[in-house]
Amino acid sequence: MAIELPLMTNNTINTGVWNPDTDDSLVCIDVHDETHDVKSFTFVSPDRKQIVFSAGQYFMFEPGADADIDGRCYSISSSPHRRNAITITVKRVPGGQVSNWLHDNLAPNTILRASGPLGKFVRPPAKKYLFMSGGSGVTPVMSMVREFADASEPVDVVFLHAGRSPKDFIFRSELATLSEKMKGLRLLFLPEDTSNERSWPGVTGRISKELLQLAVPDIAERVVMCCGPAPFMRAAKSISAELGVPEKNYHEESFDAAVIEEAPAPIAEAVEAKVFTVQFSKQGKSVEVRADQTVLACAKKSGVRLPSSCANGICGTCKSKLVSGNVDMKHDGGIRQREIDAGFFLPCCSKPLSDLVVER
Ligand code: FES
Repeated sequence: MAIELPLMTNNTINTGVWNPDTDDSLVCIDVHDETHDVKSFTFVSPDRKQIVFSAGQYFMFEPGADADIDGRCYSISSSPHRRNAITITVKRVPGGQVSNWLHDNLAPNTILRASGPLGKFVRPPAKKYLFMSGGSGVTPVMSMVREFADASEPVDVVFLHAGRSPKDFIFRSELATLSEKMKGLRLLFLPEDTSNERSWPGVTGRISKELLQLAVPDIAERVVMCCGPAPFMRAAKSISAELGVPEKNYHEESFDAAVIEEAPAPIAEAVEAKVFTVQFSKQGKSVEVRADQTVLACAKKSGVRLPSSCANGICGTCKSKLVSGNVDMKHDGGIRQREIDAGFFLPCCSKPLSDLVVER
Protein backbone atom coordinates (compact mmCIF):
# COMPACT_ATOMS: atom_id res chain seq x y z
CA MET A 1 0.00 0.00 0.00
CA ALA A 2 1.36 3.40 -0.90
CA ILE A 3 1.28 5.62 2.19
CA GLU A 4 3.33 8.50 3.44
CA LEU A 5 5.90 7.90 6.15
CA PRO A 6 7.38 10.59 8.37
CA LEU A 7 11.11 10.66 7.66
CA MET A 8 13.42 9.40 10.38
CA THR A 9 16.18 11.78 11.33
CA ASN A 10 19.66 11.35 9.94
CA ASN A 11 20.83 10.53 13.43
CA THR A 12 18.55 7.52 13.73
CA ILE A 13 20.65 4.44 14.40
CA ASN A 14 19.35 0.90 14.40
CA THR A 15 21.62 -2.06 14.64
CA GLY A 16 18.81 -4.59 14.09
CA VAL A 17 18.70 -6.96 11.18
CA TRP A 18 15.77 -7.37 8.78
CA ASN A 19 13.87 -10.55 9.61
CA PRO A 20 12.34 -12.11 6.47
CA ASP A 21 9.71 -13.89 8.60
CA THR A 22 8.34 -10.82 10.36
CA ASP A 23 9.45 -7.65 8.55
CA ASP A 24 7.10 -6.84 5.71
CA SER A 25 7.52 -3.27 4.50
CA LEU A 26 10.15 -1.07 2.91
CA VAL A 27 10.35 2.70 2.49
CA CYS A 28 11.44 4.20 -0.82
CA ILE A 29 14.20 6.76 -0.27
CA ASP A 30 15.36 7.44 -3.82
CA VAL A 31 14.21 7.20 -7.44
CA HIS A 32 16.83 7.44 -10.15
CA ASP A 33 16.59 7.38 -13.97
CA GLU A 34 18.94 4.78 -15.46
CA THR A 35 17.85 4.95 -19.13
CA HIS A 36 14.90 6.40 -21.06
CA ASP A 37 12.62 3.60 -19.76
CA VAL A 38 14.41 2.19 -16.71
CA LYS A 39 14.45 3.54 -13.16
CA SER A 40 16.20 2.41 -10.00
CA PHE A 41 14.30 2.56 -6.70
CA THR A 42 16.16 2.42 -3.40
CA PHE A 43 14.49 1.24 -0.19
CA VAL A 44 15.32 1.05 3.49
CA SER A 45 13.55 -0.73 6.32
CA PRO A 46 11.20 1.69 8.18
CA ASP A 47 13.25 1.20 11.36
CA ARG A 48 16.55 1.25 9.47
CA LYS A 49 17.42 -2.41 9.97
CA GLN A 50 20.32 -3.93 8.07
CA ILE A 51 19.10 -6.01 5.13
CA VAL A 52 21.19 -9.14 4.65
CA PHE A 53 20.94 -10.77 1.22
CA SER A 54 23.03 -12.53 -1.42
CA ALA A 55 23.76 -11.03 -4.82
CA GLY A 56 21.23 -12.53 -7.24
CA GLN A 57 18.27 -12.60 -4.84
CA TYR A 58 15.03 -10.66 -5.19
CA PHE A 59 12.23 -9.05 -3.19
CA MET A 60 8.49 -9.33 -3.79
CA PHE A 61 6.72 -5.94 -3.79
CA GLU A 62 2.98 -5.44 -3.41
CA PRO A 63 1.61 -2.10 -4.61
CA GLY A 64 -1.49 -2.75 -2.50
CA ALA A 65 -5.20 -3.25 -2.76
CA ASP A 66 -5.87 0.39 -3.68
CA ALA A 67 -3.77 -0.10 -6.83
CA ASP A 68 -5.75 -3.31 -7.66
CA ILE A 69 -2.69 -5.08 -9.00
CA ASP A 70 -0.81 -8.13 -7.85
CA GLY A 71 2.63 -8.16 -6.37
CA ARG A 72 5.75 -8.74 -8.43
CA CYS A 73 9.27 -9.82 -7.68
CA TYR A 74 12.27 -7.70 -8.63
CA SER A 75 15.93 -8.65 -8.39
CA ILE A 76 18.14 -6.54 -6.19
CA SER A 77 20.71 -4.61 -8.23
CA SER A 78 22.69 -3.16 -5.33
CA SER A 79 25.69 -4.69 -3.59
CA PRO A 80 25.10 -7.10 -0.70
CA HIS A 81 27.97 -5.37 1.09
CA ARG A 82 25.76 -2.26 1.46
CA ARG A 83 23.18 -3.47 3.92
CA ASN A 84 21.55 -0.19 4.87
CA ALA A 85 19.41 -0.22 1.74
CA ILE A 86 18.46 -2.29 -1.29
CA THR A 87 17.95 -1.06 -4.85
CA ILE A 88 15.79 -2.60 -7.55
CA THR A 89 16.02 -1.54 -11.19
CA VAL A 90 12.80 -1.70 -13.18
CA LYS A 91 12.09 -1.36 -16.88
CA ARG A 92 8.78 0.15 -17.93
CA VAL A 93 6.98 -2.55 -19.93
CA PRO A 94 4.09 -1.82 -22.31
CA GLY A 95 1.07 -3.32 -20.51
CA GLY A 96 3.19 -4.23 -17.47
CA GLN A 97 0.96 -3.34 -14.54
CA VAL A 98 3.47 -3.35 -11.71
CA SER A 99 6.43 -1.82 -13.53
CA ASN A 100 4.25 1.00 -14.82
CA TRP A 101 2.74 1.56 -11.37
CA LEU A 102 6.19 1.77 -9.82
CA HIS A 103 7.39 4.21 -12.50
CA ASP A 104 4.30 6.41 -12.17
CA ASN A 105 3.71 6.34 -8.41
CA LEU A 106 6.77 5.48 -6.40
CA ALA A 107 8.47 8.44 -4.76
CA PRO A 108 10.65 8.99 -1.69
CA ASN A 109 8.77 8.27 1.56
CA THR A 110 6.33 5.82 -0.03
CA ILE A 111 5.99 2.58 1.92
CA LEU A 112 5.40 -0.68 0.09
CA ARG A 113 4.62 -4.11 1.44
CA ALA A 114 7.65 -6.23 0.61
CA SER A 115 8.88 -9.72 1.36
CA GLY A 116 12.28 -11.26 0.86
CA PRO A 117 15.05 -11.73 0.22
CA LEU A 118 14.08 -14.72 -1.91
CA GLY A 119 15.61 -16.77 -4.70
CA LYS A 120 18.38 -19.24 -5.42
CA PHE A 121 20.20 -17.50 -8.27
CA VAL A 122 23.31 -17.17 -6.13
CA ARG A 123 26.88 -17.34 -7.40
CA PRO A 124 28.76 -20.48 -6.28
CA PRO A 125 32.44 -20.00 -5.40
CA ALA A 126 34.67 -20.22 -8.51
CA LYS A 127 37.92 -18.87 -9.91
CA LYS A 128 36.47 -17.72 -13.22
CA TYR A 129 32.98 -16.55 -14.22
CA LEU A 130 31.07 -15.66 -17.35
CA PHE A 131 28.13 -13.35 -16.61
CA MET A 132 25.56 -13.07 -19.40
CA SER A 133 22.57 -10.75 -19.27
CA GLY A 134 19.91 -9.66 -21.72
CA GLY A 135 18.08 -6.34 -21.27
CA SER A 136 16.84 -5.75 -17.72
CA GLY A 137 18.13 -9.21 -16.79
CA VAL A 138 21.27 -7.30 -15.91
CA THR A 139 19.97 -6.49 -12.41
CA PRO A 140 20.97 -9.61 -10.41
CA VAL A 141 24.27 -9.81 -12.29
CA MET A 142 24.95 -6.14 -11.57
CA SER A 143 24.55 -6.93 -7.88
CA MET A 144 27.30 -9.55 -8.29
CA VAL A 145 29.60 -7.12 -10.10
CA ARG A 146 29.03 -4.45 -7.45
CA GLU A 147 29.72 -7.08 -4.78
CA PHE A 148 33.10 -7.80 -6.38
CA ALA A 149 33.85 -4.09 -6.69
CA ASP A 150 33.06 -3.48 -3.01
CA ALA A 151 35.14 -6.47 -1.87
CA SER A 152 38.21 -5.18 -3.77
CA GLU A 153 39.37 -8.74 -4.37
CA PRO A 154 41.00 -10.01 -7.59
CA VAL A 155 38.37 -11.36 -10.00
CA ASP A 156 38.28 -13.06 -13.37
CA VAL A 157 34.92 -12.16 -14.86
CA VAL A 158 33.81 -11.82 -18.47
CA PHE A 159 30.51 -9.93 -18.59
CA LEU A 160 28.48 -10.13 -21.80
CA HIS A 161 25.63 -7.64 -21.62
CA ALA A 162 23.21 -7.84 -24.56
CA GLY A 163 20.55 -5.26 -25.37
CA ARG A 164 18.42 -3.80 -28.11
CA SER A 165 20.62 -0.74 -28.74
CA PRO A 166 23.41 1.16 -26.94
CA LYS A 167 20.91 3.61 -25.42
CA ASP A 168 19.11 0.64 -23.82
CA PHE A 169 22.16 -0.59 -21.91
CA ILE A 170 21.37 -0.23 -18.22
CA PHE A 171 24.43 0.70 -16.08
CA ARG A 172 26.48 1.34 -19.23
CA SER A 173 28.65 4.12 -17.83
CA GLU A 174 28.97 2.58 -14.35
CA LEU A 175 30.10 -0.73 -15.86
CA ALA A 176 32.61 1.06 -18.08
CA THR A 177 34.03 2.85 -15.03
CA LEU A 178 34.14 -0.34 -13.00
CA SER A 179 35.94 -2.23 -15.75
CA GLU A 180 38.63 0.48 -15.78
CA LYS A 181 39.17 0.02 -12.05
CA MET A 182 38.74 -3.76 -11.86
CA LYS A 183 41.51 -5.35 -13.89
CA GLY A 184 39.85 -8.77 -13.92
CA LEU A 185 36.48 -7.54 -15.26
CA ARG A 186 36.20 -7.76 -19.05
CA LEU A 187 33.07 -6.20 -20.54
CA LEU A 188 31.41 -7.09 -23.80
CA PHE A 189 28.38 -4.98 -24.74
CA LEU A 190 26.35 -6.61 -27.49
CA PRO A 191 23.70 -4.35 -29.07
CA GLU A 192 21.40 -5.71 -31.76
CA ASP A 193 21.01 -2.34 -33.43
CA THR A 194 23.43 0.59 -33.42
CA SER A 195 21.60 2.97 -35.74
CA ASN A 196 21.08 5.48 -32.91
CA GLU A 197 24.77 5.60 -32.01
CA ARG A 198 27.12 7.72 -34.15
CA SER A 199 29.83 5.06 -34.04
CA TRP A 200 29.96 1.75 -32.23
CA PRO A 201 33.41 0.28 -31.74
CA GLY A 202 32.40 -3.26 -30.78
CA VAL A 203 30.50 -6.23 -32.14
CA THR A 204 26.76 -6.18 -32.81
CA GLY A 205 24.05 -8.78 -33.21
CA ARG A 206 22.82 -11.62 -31.00
CA ILE A 207 24.77 -14.15 -28.98
CA SER A 208 26.09 -16.98 -31.09
CA LYS A 209 28.44 -19.90 -30.74
CA GLU A 210 31.02 -18.17 -32.96
CA LEU A 211 30.94 -14.99 -30.87
CA LEU A 212 31.35 -16.82 -27.54
CA GLN A 213 34.10 -19.04 -28.97
CA LEU A 214 36.06 -15.95 -29.99
CA ALA A 215 35.29 -13.71 -27.01
CA VAL A 216 35.51 -16.34 -24.27
CA PRO A 217 37.81 -19.12 -25.52
CA ASP A 218 38.05 -20.60 -22.00
CA ILE A 219 34.27 -20.65 -21.49
CA ALA A 220 34.35 -24.35 -20.52
CA GLU A 221 36.41 -23.45 -17.43
CA ARG A 222 34.01 -20.76 -16.26
CA VAL A 223 30.93 -20.78 -14.06
CA VAL A 224 28.17 -19.16 -16.13
CA MET A 225 25.54 -16.93 -14.49
CA CYS A 226 22.81 -15.92 -16.96
CA CYS A 227 19.69 -13.79 -16.71
CA GLY A 228 17.44 -12.29 -19.38
CA PRO A 229 14.36 -12.88 -21.50
CA ALA A 230 13.50 -16.55 -22.09
CA PRO A 231 14.76 -16.71 -25.73
CA PHE A 232 18.09 -15.17 -24.68
CA MET A 233 18.53 -17.67 -21.86
CA ARG A 234 17.58 -20.59 -24.12
CA ALA A 235 20.28 -19.56 -26.60
CA ALA A 236 22.86 -18.91 -23.88
CA LYS A 237 22.22 -22.29 -22.29
CA SER A 238 22.47 -24.34 -25.46
CA ILE A 239 25.57 -22.48 -26.72
CA SER A 240 27.27 -22.88 -23.33
CA ALA A 241 26.57 -26.63 -23.39
CA GLU A 242 27.86 -26.90 -26.97
CA LEU A 243 31.06 -25.14 -25.94
CA GLY A 244 31.69 -27.54 -23.10
CA VAL A 245 30.28 -25.81 -20.00
CA PRO A 246 29.26 -28.64 -17.64
CA GLU A 247 25.60 -28.47 -16.63
CA LYS A 248 26.55 -27.99 -12.98
CA ASN A 249 28.44 -24.83 -13.92
CA TYR A 250 25.56 -23.19 -15.77
CA HIS A 251 23.13 -21.15 -13.64
CA GLU A 252 20.24 -19.05 -14.80
CA GLU A 253 17.56 -16.97 -13.15
CA SER A 254 14.64 -19.17 -14.08
CA PHE A 255 12.39 -16.74 -12.26
CA ASP A 256 11.51 -14.60 -15.29
CA ALA A 257 9.14 -12.34 -13.41
CA ALA A 258 11.93 -11.23 -11.15
CA VAL A 259 13.25 -9.08 -13.90
CA ILE A 260 11.28 -9.43 -17.08
CA GLU A 261 7.67 -8.51 -16.61
CA GLU A 262 5.53 -10.05 -19.32
CA ALA A 263 2.79 -8.04 -20.99
CA PRO A 264 -0.70 -9.49 -20.44
CA ALA A 265 -2.17 -11.85 -23.03
CA PRO A 266 -3.69 -10.12 -26.05
CA ILE A 267 -7.40 -9.42 -25.61
CA ALA A 268 -8.34 -11.75 -28.49
CA GLU A 269 -6.73 -14.69 -26.65
CA ALA A 270 -8.26 -13.67 -23.37
CA VAL A 271 -11.77 -13.57 -24.79
CA GLU A 272 -11.48 -17.13 -26.11
CA ALA A 273 -10.24 -18.65 -22.84
CA LYS A 274 -12.71 -20.82 -20.89
CA VAL A 275 -13.90 -19.57 -17.51
CA PHE A 276 -14.07 -21.81 -14.42
CA THR A 277 -15.48 -21.31 -10.94
CA VAL A 278 -13.04 -21.62 -8.05
CA GLN A 279 -14.64 -22.01 -4.64
CA PHE A 280 -12.69 -21.19 -1.46
CA SER A 281 -14.49 -23.41 1.03
CA LYS A 282 -13.37 -21.92 4.35
CA GLN A 283 -13.97 -18.31 3.34
CA GLY A 284 -17.24 -19.11 1.54
CA LYS A 285 -16.16 -17.22 -1.57
CA SER A 286 -16.29 -18.13 -5.26
CA VAL A 287 -14.17 -16.59 -7.97
CA GLU A 288 -14.30 -16.79 -11.76
CA VAL A 289 -10.91 -17.77 -13.19
CA ARG A 290 -10.12 -17.94 -16.91
CA ALA A 291 -8.15 -20.94 -18.19
CA ASP A 292 -5.22 -18.60 -18.97
CA GLN A 293 -5.13 -17.00 -15.50
CA THR A 294 -3.59 -18.24 -12.28
CA VAL A 295 -5.81 -19.08 -9.34
CA LEU A 296 -3.78 -16.80 -7.05
CA ALA A 297 -4.03 -13.71 -9.27
CA CYS A 298 -7.82 -13.95 -9.51
CA ALA A 299 -8.27 -14.84 -5.84
CA LYS A 300 -6.30 -11.79 -4.72
CA LYS A 301 -8.19 -9.46 -7.05
CA SER A 302 -11.43 -10.72 -5.53
CA GLY A 303 -10.32 -10.22 -1.94
CA VAL A 304 -9.78 -13.90 -1.10
CA ARG A 305 -7.13 -14.23 1.62
CA LEU A 306 -4.33 -16.40 0.33
CA PRO A 307 -0.73 -16.14 1.54
CA SER A 308 1.83 -15.66 -1.21
CA SER A 309 5.36 -14.54 -1.74
CA CYS A 310 7.24 -15.30 -4.95
CA ALA A 311 4.09 -15.75 -7.11
CA ASN A 312 6.13 -18.11 -9.28
CA GLY A 313 5.98 -21.56 -7.74
CA ILE A 314 9.33 -21.29 -5.96
CA CYS A 315 8.76 -20.56 -2.29
CA GLY A 316 5.74 -22.72 -1.39
CA THR A 317 4.04 -19.93 0.58
CA CYS A 318 0.71 -20.28 -1.24
CA LYS A 319 0.48 -24.10 -0.91
CA SER A 320 -3.17 -25.08 -0.52
CA LYS A 321 -5.33 -28.19 -0.48
CA LEU A 322 -7.21 -28.85 -3.71
CA VAL A 323 -10.40 -30.56 -2.57
CA SER A 324 -11.72 -31.17 -6.09
CA GLY A 325 -10.91 -30.33 -9.70
CA ASN A 326 -7.80 -30.32 -11.86
CA VAL A 327 -5.16 -27.68 -12.51
CA ASP A 328 -2.26 -27.15 -14.89
CA MET A 329 0.55 -26.42 -12.41
CA LYS A 330 3.99 -25.25 -13.57
CA HIS A 331 5.97 -24.96 -10.36
CA ASP A 332 9.64 -24.37 -9.83
CA GLY A 333 10.43 -26.47 -6.79
CA GLY A 334 7.93 -24.91 -4.34
CA ILE A 335 6.06 -28.18 -3.79
CA ARG A 336 7.17 -31.81 -3.38
CA GLN A 337 5.75 -34.73 -5.31
CA ARG A 338 4.42 -36.32 -2.13
CA GLU A 339 2.53 -33.10 -1.35
CA ILE A 340 1.03 -33.12 -4.83
CA ASP A 341 0.09 -36.77 -4.29
CA ALA A 342 -1.59 -35.72 -1.04
CA GLY A 343 -3.78 -33.24 -2.94
CA PHE A 344 -1.89 -29.97 -2.47
CA PHE A 345 -1.12 -27.41 -5.18
CA LEU A 346 0.38 -23.95 -5.65
CA PRO A 347 -2.32 -21.44 -6.71
CA CYS A 348 0.30 -18.92 -7.89
CA CYS A 349 1.46 -21.10 -10.78
CA SER A 350 -1.71 -23.10 -11.44
CA LYS A 351 -4.33 -22.48 -14.09
CA PRO A 352 -7.69 -24.24 -13.81
CA LEU A 353 -8.60 -27.12 -16.10
CA SER A 354 -12.03 -27.51 -14.45
CA ASP A 355 -14.11 -25.95 -11.67
CA LEU A 356 -12.17 -26.15 -8.41
CA VAL A 357 -12.79 -26.32 -4.67
CA VAL A 358 -9.86 -25.08 -2.59
CA GLU A 359 -9.64 -25.54 1.18
CA ARG A 360 -8.95 -21.91 2.13
S1 FES B 1 3.74 -17.79 -3.76
FE1 FES B 1 5.66 -18.82 -3.86
S2 FES B 1 5.06 -20.80 -4.49
FE2 FES B 1 3.23 -19.69 -4.62
